[in-house]
Amino acid sequence: MEGEAPHIIHGLEGVYFTESKICKVDGTLGKLYYRGYPIGALAANSSFEEVCYLLLNGALPTKKQLRAFESHMKAERKLPRHIVKTIAEMTGKAHPTDILRTAVSSLPTYDPEAYEKSQDANLRKSVRLISKMASITATIGRFMCGGKYVYPKRKLSHSANFLYMLTGKAPEEKQAKLLDTMMILHAEHSTNASTFATLVTGSTLADLYAAITSGIAALKGPLHGGADEAALLMLRAIGKPENTEAYVEHALEDKQRIMGFGHRIYKTYDPRARIIKADLEALQSSASEEIRDLTAIALRVEKLMIDKLGQSRGIWPNIDFFAGPIYTEMGIHPDLFTPLFAVSRVPGWCSHMLEYWQNNRLLRPLELYTGPLDLEYVPISKRR
Ligand SMILES: CC(C)(COP(=O)(O)OP(=O)(O)OC[C@H]1O[C@@H](n2cnc3c(N)ncnc32)[C@H](O)[C@@H]1OP(=O)(O)O)[C@@H](O)C(=O)NCCC(=O)NCCS
Repeated sequence: MEGEAPHIIHGLEGVYFTESKICKVDGTLGKLYYRGYPIGALAANSSFEEVCYLLLNGALPTKKQLRAFESHMKAERKLPRHIVKTIAEMTGKAHPTDILRTAVSSLPTYDPEAYEKSQDANLRKSVRLISKMASITATIGRFMCGGKYVYPKRKLSHSANFLYMLTGKAPEEKQAKLLDTMMILHAEHSTNASTFATLVTGSTLADLYAAITSGIAALKGPLHGGADEAALLMLRAIGKPENTEAYVEHALEDKQRIMGFGHRIYKTYDPRARIIKADLEALQSSASEEIRDLTAIALRVEKLMIDKLGQSRGIWPNIDFFAGPIYTEMGIHPDLFTPLFAVSRVPGWCSHMLEYWQNNRLLRPLELYTGPLDLEYVPISKRR
């Protein structure tokens, strides 16, 4: 009705803006599906490469299709020399997420198809981004430890090659498998903040590199992808299992957020956190003392938070809570957690972008202006 104040939905909470066939998040039952497949089945049986194919193409591949897709991913792993130089120049001066974002935004320089808008070209660019973002992030981690650039190894899987480029050594199979599972769990999660940022940029018909650069920028914040780094820092700050209760009680009294808990959609246990928790518990017997302590602290935080805020407020562990100790056990530095999240999430971002472009509409919401109007312009010489 004319004159009536518009209804403002802060944070666009509960607002639908498009249809999608990529991902279903059931926040009440705690279920997650990629293209209709339950996340548990994919984590247990699939590979990151297969999940990328599934997300981008809409169906699981045949053996032949998967072999061709894997081969394409491997062929795209090498980095242009200039990108390696940029990473070296920025390492130690900028956060690794900023280095990744900068490197990705300069990738069009080396891609003759950068501004080609066909669906096929965008699929090829998606594979390029998935492979190169892993190589960029591994190289950032490598340079952070003073190592030299490691050329990718063709015979290794995506996750094994990531660890190889990071450490210079081919990883044990069980480590690569664990990272592969983490990547599958992080690969997609509907239109969260970073996917939405990707779509906002892409909806202007900017190119895929521009859209993914926006996704990385949005992922950085501690309310989103930065939470696993923040959660690990919190576990470390607690220090000893017996300090847990006092730390959490004090933080909650102080109105601080406990990182790795709560979710805009899940009002129950995040199904991905359950899988990561089981993986973390499974590696205890061979884990270092540091990881065993961090795990003991995490389990006490989890129990306390569920007792206090689980049933009553719907604040449960999310994907970021148990991830830190697992990455630490793999020798991955906390500063690398968010870029690694981006490396895992890029197939989701690309799938959404390609789907949205099939029926593109400029994303342009409204704000309600509450400032003054028709003010008289006073020349600067007369202002006091
Ligand atoms: C993810 C998150 C931003 C979603 O929150 P949201 O839907 O916007 O919910 P709100 O920020 O409105 O929070 C609702 C209430 O729950 C509380 N809350 C939410 N998450 C909390 C947490 N992790 N610890 C303590 N309290 C929390 C808020 O303080 C708020 O309380 P109030 O109503 O008394 O003010 C939020 O849960 C959070 O900040 N979590 C920590 C960061 C994190 O783990 N992010 C990764 C998400 S995968």
